[in-house]
Amino acid sequence: MILPERIRDIADKEPGTKVSLKGWVANVRSSGSIVFVQFRDGSGLLQAVIAKNAVTPAEFETARQLTVESSIKIQGTTAPEPRAPGGLELQVAGLELVHKAAEYPIGKKEHGPDFLLDNRHLWLRAPRQQAILRIRDEIVWAMRSYLRSQGFVLTDSPVLTPNAAEGTTTLFKTDYFGSNAYLAQTGQLYIEATAAALGRVYDFGPTFRAEKSKTRRHLIEFWMLDAEAAFMEFSENLEVQEGLVVAVVQSVLKNCRPELEILERDATKLEKIIAPFPRLTYTEALKILAKNGSDVKWGNDLGADDETILSNLYEQPVFVTNYPTEAKAFYMKPDPNDPKVVLNNDLLAPEGVGEIIGGSERIDDYDLLKKRILDHKLPLADFEWYLDLRRYGSFPHSGFGIGLERTVRWITGIQHIREAIPFPRLLNRIRP
Ligand code: 4AD
Ligand code: MG
Repeated sequence: MILPERIRDIADKEPGTKVSLKGWVANVRSSGSIVFVQFRDGSGLLQAVIAKNAVTPAEFETARQLTVESSIKIQGTTAPEPRAPGGLELQVAGLELVHKAAEYPIGKKEHGPDFLLDNRHLWLRAPRQQAILRIRDEIVWAMRSYLRSQGFVLTDSPVLTPNAAEGTTTLFKTDYFGSNAYLAQTGQLYIEATAAALGRVYDFGPTFRAEKSKTRRHLIEFWMLDAEAAFMEFSENLEVQEGLVVAVVQSVLKNCRPELEILERDATKLEKIIAPFPRLTYTEALKILAKNGSDVKWGNDLGADDETILSNLYEQPVFVTNYPTEAKAFYMKPDPNDPKVVLNNDLLAPEGVGEIIGGSERIDDYDLLKKRILDHKLPLADFEWYLDLRRYGSFPHSGFGIGLERTVRWITGIQHIREAIPFPRLLNRIRP
């Protein structure tokens, strides 16, 4: 071990072990000749007991003056304490103040969301927020290792791009030395190129949508993993998505039980996530929606409310496939049996969460792709490189993009997507 020990490392050790730790005061209370510190170091929580007769008078005075979020170094001996999380407490033999925190603005009382978001840089220290970030980390590792196990290679795509990939209405424009550049909405088009080099690829990075939506499921800046595979057709694409989502859920269940408990997440809902996921065509979904009070008309994309209705009907994530061509992106391949619809899917997570993945088979025919670019009034010159992929050894291929924060929101059971990323960018918020 290069770095010093942390609470997580001592959890399995026998009581009576000597340790020294560095961290913060999550809470503190005194009763006469004992000060009880809820000590946290980022890896866990430990009750530290500072008895007057076990430390120097100066150290005891320091302990009595401790404020919430002060940073300290402590050393002592672990002792069994059945009521403490982990069954251990620390009997402190030495204490050093690193920094005495000013009065901490976040307390035990209920704060409104605006106050908490204004103080996001501090709010992140709360146990719930730590738990969400740990689960986010677990999900990222699980996604990467699943794709790696399936032979996918990470090929990152650029954030600054000359063209739109997902419609022109949500583009963020910036100046690129006198010409226009846009922040990436997806890396898909670029990994279609790397798929021709490496066969199975993915990218994972921040993506941007200037969405004028103020909802619980939209961020302006969010992380997306795009995956793409050469010679993968529509139905195989669904199987990869299914495999990925099951692997992610399993990994969280295996490694994040304490975090799920902190979040009071009903883990039995996650335990039910097994392949295969139910599949509905868009047209079938519309019939179900009509019976459930939605008035969405054939030809329109499903709205958030429609997704909520569908996703509440199943315990599993549900695939909705074959959306109307007119409602979807220019690159999606029309269904050869019914060109009014495309070979695409959304994956709707259960419990009312809605879309977490969008995927499709891509058009591999040069002429059709060119026509679609022109129909969508996209500047052809900026897509010549993309058309090259259909000039030089075109190949059937499919892929998908999974939104990280949407996935975190579902798996953690949090209400609002803004807690699924350390520093959310929302319609009305870019600070801190
Ligand atoms: O469905 P989308 O727009 O698909 C694409 O961008 C494709 N090019 C992906 C691909 O095939 N490689 O976005 C993919 C996912 C959505 O399913 C959703 O999870 C997430 O990205 N997403 C958002 N997440 C948070 N806030 C937003 N504003 C989002 N927009 C999309
Ligand atoms: Mg989508």
